[in-house]
Amino acid sequence: MNNPLDVNPPYFHPAYAITRLRGPLEPPVVLPHGWFHEIAGPSFGHVTVKPSDNDLTIQHSGPPQGQRMVLSGRVLDSDGRGVPNTLIEIWQANSAGRYADKADPNFMPMDPNFTGAGRCFTDEQGNYKFTTIRPAAYAGPKGTVYRPAHIHVSLFGRLLSERLITQCYFPGDPLMKNDPIIGSIPNLKDRERLIVAYDEEATPLTSGGENSALSFRWDIVLRGSDSTPLLR
Ligand SMILES: [Fe+2]
Repeated sequence: MNNPLDVNPPYFHPAYAITRLRGPLEPPVVLPHGWFHEIAGPSFGHVTVKPSDNDLTIQHSGPPQGQRMVLSGRVLDSDGRGVPNTLIEIWQANSAGRYADKADPNFMPMDPNFTGAGRCFTDEQGNYKFTTIRPAAYAGPKGTVYRPAHIHVSLFGRLLSERLITQCYFPGDPLMKNDPIIGSIPNLKDRERLIVAYDEEATPLTSGGENSALSFRWDIVLRGSDSTPLLR
């Protein structure tokens, strides 16, 4: 039974098909102190995070196809304070609705100039910013509903166990209504916190030339009754 105050979906939500496979079948196990989950981290492997890693439009020899956009916002705690030094990673489909991923069913074309993955750290005030291409909605395997356009997001905190994974969506997308993944979040009000806002102030009314981009804002709240729902 899901806690009615919990903004997050239950581990099992039959309409969200993957939860039938990955939802735990046994009660949670309490791990003893001193195990890997308390190791300070995360560890980023051999490749450091570069300042340009937050621009998904400059990773190849030419510009990717599609509508350029900026996604920015803050990572906040339950008191509205910015959370610095949080690693944010995003991944997404291209402007045709195709992932650069072997698991993609390959219905739509690849873009040789778009991988669809980026990352950055929040600054001292918890701000983050990505420049990317607006993803398209996509069709899944036969018999599944169209997924609304979205960007996958992962945040890493100070411990390996402090990881949040979710997705953000675009305002006014009619496909959100029947999406079983958004529908796994119990309350409508909580679902709305996954929708980015068009940022009129940050989007110039006149063209900025080849670097023009639509701006969207989305704050991610880690805890409390206004926290951002997880979409695991
Ligand atoms: Fe996706």
